[in-house]
Amino acid sequence: MTWQRKDLLGLQELTQEEIGFILETANSLKEISLRPIKKVPTLRGKTVALLFFEPSTRTRTSFELAAKRLSSDTINISRDASSLDKGESILDTAKNIEAMKIDIAVVRHSCAGVPQVLARHLKAAVVNAGDGAHEHPTQGLLDLFTIKERKRKISGLKVSIIGDIAHSRVARSNIWGLTKLGARVLLCGPKTLMPPDVEKLPVEVTYDIKKALEDADVLNILRLQLERQKESLFPSIREYRQLFGINHERLRYAKADVLILHPGPVNRGIEISCDVADSQSSLILEQVTNGLAIRMAVLYLLSKEK
Ligand code: CP
Repeated sequence: MTWQRKDLLGLQELTQEEIGFILETANSLKEISLRPIKKVPTLRGKTVALLFFEPSTRTRTSFELAAKRLSSDTINISRDASSLDKGESILDTAKNIEAMKIDIAVVRHSCAGVPQVLARHLKAAVVNAGDGAHEHPTQGLLDLFTIKERKRKISGLKVSIIGDIAHSRVARSNIWGLTKLGARVLLCGPKTLMPPDVEKLPVEVTYDIKKALEDADVLNILRLQLERQKESLFPSIREYRQLFGINHERLRYAKADVLILHPGPVNRGIEISCDVADSQSSLILEQVTNGLAIRMAVLYLLSKEK
């Protein structure tokens, strides 16, 4: 297939073929980062703008490195170091950046829908690097890539996503990506941390952690996003850990070869214990490595003339 889309805004709108195509492209680009000279000229002469209006460690660094490994120029705009604090709108900021002839804008914002609005108004390609609790498509793609690399397939796997589903863009991108590729997705967490529209999603739901662990091939463990919770949604961190925290003892209910994923940042000792986060089953750092390949693939595909 050839890539036709101008933007990457979410996995909900992608076809199974498009998702497969990004994963294959990432697979062929991954080895560039293993070379002694980790650079190819593919995006020479292009400019990628990183517009991060919300904090990020992994995604921002990964997109910047991905652009640089493909020889693109990069510019970084953050909320603090931009004229947003002087009252300029995000759209005006983005249009001014575009007037300097950028090719791709990578956008993170705490409000759902900001990358979609910018995509409608900019000629440059727009990549959603996480918008509110809506989607985080490159995280979903890197999770798919990591699972497929280890299990050699996605179809037929049982993937349990555990924790704060309501506030998680990672959960939404995983749900769309996994189900389009044929996995069975089970959500588990406190009732108060399930999204109100959960019955419209192509998933099963349980509030019993043992059911989430039984027969699961993959556990994707989410952080409690306390910064997004406007009210107290569970009695205490201690109770959350007791009911839903994944620790070595609780893993006895899971398959011996279960894979542990976590998008980061990890709150050790809350949603996941240190022994599980650092165990042989944990792919947390492999996810980060694969994220670079996924972001190289996305920048490469979106930079091609349509
Ligand atoms: N997984 C993820 O999006 O991490 P950052 O917030 O550090 O980018």
